[in-house]
Amino acid sequence: MYVCVCKAVTERNIREAALAGARRLKDLRRELGVTSDCGLCAASAQACLREARKAGAPVQSTPTHSAQGDCH
Ligand code: FES
Repeated sequence: MYVCVCKAVTERNIREAALAGARRLKDLRRELGVTSDCGLCAASAQACLREARKAGAPVQSTPTHSAQGDCH
């Protein structure tokens, strides 16, 4: 599922970026372009990054832009 529609960034992309060393939202922005257009994906991208950084935690494939800002 897309986390950032503007840049076509998926949860998988974010997980891969986390595994490659992304630690902050600005890392995702630099590497993937997340939040560089409309910015609506910021909370979801942050939540996905947090989940991805948990050891072995799978990133759920679920809708984006939730009001809670989570990765589901
Ligand atoms: S949805 Fe990510 S910049 Fe628009």
